[in-house]
Amino acid sequence: MTGDSAPRDGFNSKFGVIAAAAGSAVGLGNIWRFPYVAGENGGGAFLLIYVGFILTIGISVMLAEFVIGRRAQRNALGSFKKLAPGKPWWLIGLMGIVAAFVILAFYSTIAGWTFEYLIQAIGNGFSGKSTSELNQMFADFQTSTFRPILWQLLFMVFTASIILAGVQKGIEKYTKLLMPLLVLLILVMCARSLTLAGAGDGVAFLFKPDFSKISGTVILEALGQAFFSMSIGMGALITYGSYIKKDNYLPGTAFQVALADTGIAILAGVMIFPAVFAFGMSPEAGAGLVFQVLPNIFEAMPGGYIFGVLFFLLLSVAALTSTISVLEVVVAYAIEELNMSRKKATIVFTVAISFLGILATLSFSELSDFEIFGNGIFANLDWLSANLLLPLGGVFIVIFLGWVLGPKAIADEVTNGGSRKMRLFKAFLFIIKYVAPIAILAVFLYGIGVFGK
Ligand code: TRP
Repeated sequence: MTGDSAPRDGFNSKFGVIAAAAGSAVGLGNIWRFPYVAGENGGGAFLLIYVGFILTIGISVMLAEFVIGRRAQRNALGSFKKLAPGKPWWLIGLMGIVAAFVILAFYSTIAGWTFEYLIQAIGNGFSGKSTSELNQMFADFQTSTFRPILWQLLFMVFTASIILAGVQKGIEKYTKLLMPLLVLLILVMCARSLTLAGAGDGVAFLFKPDFSKISGTVILEALGQAFFSMSIGMGALITYGSYIKKDNYLPGTAFQVALADTGIAILAGVMIFPAVFAFGMSPEAGAGLVFQVLPNIFEAMPGGYIFGVLFFLLLSVAALTSTISVLEVVVAYAIEELNMSRKKATIVFTVAISFLGILATLSFSELSDFEIFGNGIFANLDWLSANLLLPLGGVFIVIFLGWVLGPKAIADEVTNGGSRKMRLFKAFLFIIKYVAPIAILAVFLYGIGVFGK
């Protein structure tokens, strides 16, 4: 089945589109990655730069991806082939497929941790433990060999089984219901975190920018987090864009998804940082941060048992609605370009990615001594995707849209053939043609220290 011989599968309703795209954007990136990266990069100043990037570059790249995907009606690689036949632009799509491997490999490690914590919550495993005992519990789990891999592989199986079911029946169905519930739960936990003794320091850490903390590294990390959190730069939203109906107003969709994604990241910060300071922990704890902090909050709240169970359950679901969008990039490519069946494509690539994933997980245990550039495999995959592959993909995506596809086709797509008006159209064109490519490249070069420290 190729794209031309059968009607393409697609999202059925307007809310389905938002739910699927927001389901992709909202995930561990918001709740696990945002707090740990913000914590390591100074808090308030980081947040400010991060939000600035989302409002300018982030939303623009997101809209660019929707436009490319819906225009071409193809997967992330095929879209470039179709819109620029005979030219090498499809290499952007290829880079996206590489990025999908990298992201899924380390993301599934953390999703596996979420499963472990769900089981711990169900078994009342946090109960009566002090902050230091909870830290130890995390360290013991993280450095063990088999359990983290088992959970990771189980998570990959879940991801694959949703992808097997196809776009409408798989992706759309699961995302509609569960996201709102997750937000509700986070709000409750924010309330508890904010009322802990000593919470004020955490609020100040997140919202009072200390501009002396800003450096090239901090700015690059903020850009990388914006790309990662919004699911942009590797064609996930090109792929989803190709499933969006012609009457959907793409600028509105991009805006709403960006708003939801950013709002939930900030809420996650409000949930985590007051508790970090109240329990005397360090915001710079790294990738384990939320797993070490959250059980303390559950321990300190009435109904903590049930909230703990629900929270890790919904976090697992949020992770799933994100990973399906990553795997779908690869599977849609394999179906349309390599003529594989959905089943075969899903199985082949899930297995291939899982091998890389196991290495990422083992880098916390057996392979912890194996370092490249002074970091383990996990940290390298995390850095490589967010801070290199996604921003670079973003540069090429906006250049392609602005300079190859051109203003007429873009206008046609964002206004649905002239039936809608896009108010900021000129600004959008200016950003994708000039601002975004230059700014992203400058941030990257500054971040890796090319202009000196
Ligand atoms: N944005 C997701 C999160 O925050 C992760 C994700 C899903 C992603 N699809 C992506 C990241 C595509 C980059 C590119 O958890």
